[in-house]
Amino acid sequence: MKKKDTKIGRNDTCPCGSGKKYKKCCGTKGIRKPVDRSSQYARQNNIRLKTPADIEMIRRAGLVALDILDKVGTIIQPGITTEEINTLVHEETLAQHASPAPLNYRGFPKSVCISINEVICHGIPGPRVLNDGDIVNVDVTPILEGYYADANQMFFVGTTGPDAQKIVNVARQCLKAGIDMVRPGNTIGDIGWAIQQLAEGQGCSVVREFVGHGVGFEFHEPPQVPHFGQRGQGVKLVPGMVFTIEPMINLGGRHLKILDDQWTAVTTDGSLSAQFEQTLLVTETGVESLTPYEL
Ligand code: MF3
Ligand code: CO
Ligand code: CO
Repeated sequence: MKKKDTKIGRNDTCPCGSGKKYKKCCGTKGIRKPVDRSSQYARQNNIRLKTPADIEMIRRAGLVALDILDKVGTIIQPGITTEEINTLVHEETLAQHASPAPLNYRGFPKSVCISINEVICHGIPGPRVLNDGDIVNVDVTPILEGYYADANQMFFVGTTGPDAQKIVNVARQCLKAGIDMVRPGNTIGDIGWAIQQLAEGQGCSVVREFVGHGVGFEFHEPPQVPHFGQRGQGVKLVPGMVFTIEPMINLGGRHLKILDDQWTAVTTDGSLSAQFEQTLLVTETGVESLTPYEL
């Protein structure tokens, strides 16, 4: 074989997967440089890939998140206040030698987001009492030795009706469908596409104003991970990417408004909303949840 066949031309597509021309990417003046994915993703997408050591630390933060959510599950019942859940989350986070990322984040006043019924996300804990039939999302983000893991899940309060069952199940299936799309070579758009298909196929809607996000070194890092979109669009997934998928799914319309507290997002039509969130790692062969709980 002649050398010409293997050499990358300056105008060829760069082998690093950026989709750009080689000369605009890894190739400089025809000199072949080793392709360093980590600097490529940092330069071109502002995405910081995680090393095995980083991943181990995020995994440990993830176990703290799961432990907290488990403990929350044991106290959820009609009659308790969201303030009591906040206290449990706060104290349990500290007991695990971690700190709660939500507290004072952009002025958020509490250690956890608690979102009931028509509240989509960012509910602020307080004197509100959980009632029989409520659905409640609890979203925790512990920081352990500088590393963040972000996870949330829905809880049923007492006995819930068919609408509540439906929206919680659809939201659960949506997170599953999103996770199923995570593997090297797929794109961010594939994730949103799968979620939107599923939600809208069930007559539900996908919230667009809040999206999943890179996580690990900070609370919210690039990339953004929309829960709607088109197949094949957006950044290509590569091993070492860590991000959340956290679809917010409404039983009615997708539109929201923010309450006067500047945080609480509610459905404009008052319909129920549900969400599940995990922190995902793109591996060489597919996906690993760093906050793994049964869906
Ligand atoms: N945990 C949320 C998320 O999944 C973010 C909450 S921001 C806060 O991205 F300030 F409200 F805590
Ligand atoms: Co998140
Ligand atoms: Co979260």
